[in-house]
Amino acid sequence: MTVERAAELLSASQHAVALTGAGVSAESGIPTFRGEGGLWTKYDPVKVSSIESFLADPESYWKVSRERGRVALAAKPNPGHLALAELEAAGRLVAVITQNTDGLHQDSGSKRVIELHGSGRKVQCLDCGRLELRADVQARLGAEMPPRCRNCGGQRLKPTVVLFGEPMPVAAMHEALELARNADVILVVGSSLVVYPAAEVPLVALRAGARMIVVNAEPTPFDRFAQVVINGRSGEVLPQIAALISA
Ligand code: APR
Ligand code: ZN
Repeated sequence: MTVERAAELLSASQHAVALTGAGVSAESGIPTFRGEGGLWTKYDPVKVSSIESFLADPESYWKVSRERGRVALAAKPNPGHLALAELEAAGRLVAVITQNTDGLHQDSGSKRVIELHGSGRKVQCLDCGRLELRADVQARLGAEMPPRCRNCGGQRLKPTVVLFGEPMPVAAMHEALELARNADVILVVGSSLVVYPAAEVPLVALRAGARMIVVNAEPTPFDRFAQVVINGRSGEVLPQIAALISA
């Protein structure tokens, strides 16, 4: 019933937009932040993932980021990512707005991806601004902790992701809110919807009259505003929805 209803809403939509969180990448092997086994159940996010803690001690940041980066770089899109790319190709989804920095939506073929929290695929030197691929920096973390800039020797190389206490990328946020204001359906996938301003996106869509579909492993604070709530694994649910639409 709920998968059918979600397919119906998306089939009838002209401006459906997805907002994804860490849950959509869980089946690719990347741990989420909250909920069972989440990163923040092991570490204090402010201590290990804020701009203050990074600047004070880049080494502690990299010690945590090293393992997560290894997993993220090795991760492949799962059927949930692929289903979202299929929905976009079928004209049933205008864009994916994501809180994730793993790049898996792009890898799965999604064309219009807005990264609210930046990209973990690149690293920037805060002293000289030089950009490097994360994969190249990852490769030398065994010998270099924290990694050093190849250009200026600085030891403040930071992935191009938004840490706690940092501003959101203005252009990405602007584009996401513009899409939300024009959305007729907002499909939320794999997010606990507790981090702002990202969680503002579905609220703006709702205020603009959009219908909401939530696909998440556990309840979220926004479920009461949704027409459809499916508590399940996005890697299973999204392909079911996509299959009904293409049938
Ligand atoms: N399918 C669907 N949902 C899932 C799955 C799955 N296979 N596995 C886990 N989930 C759900 C969890 O139940 C949880 O509600 O995904 C949600 C993930 O929530 P978070 O870990 O809080 O991730 P997210 O909402 O993306 O966090 C937002 O917080 O720490 C910051 O910058 C970080 O972008 C992140 C932001
Ligand atoms: Zn440098």
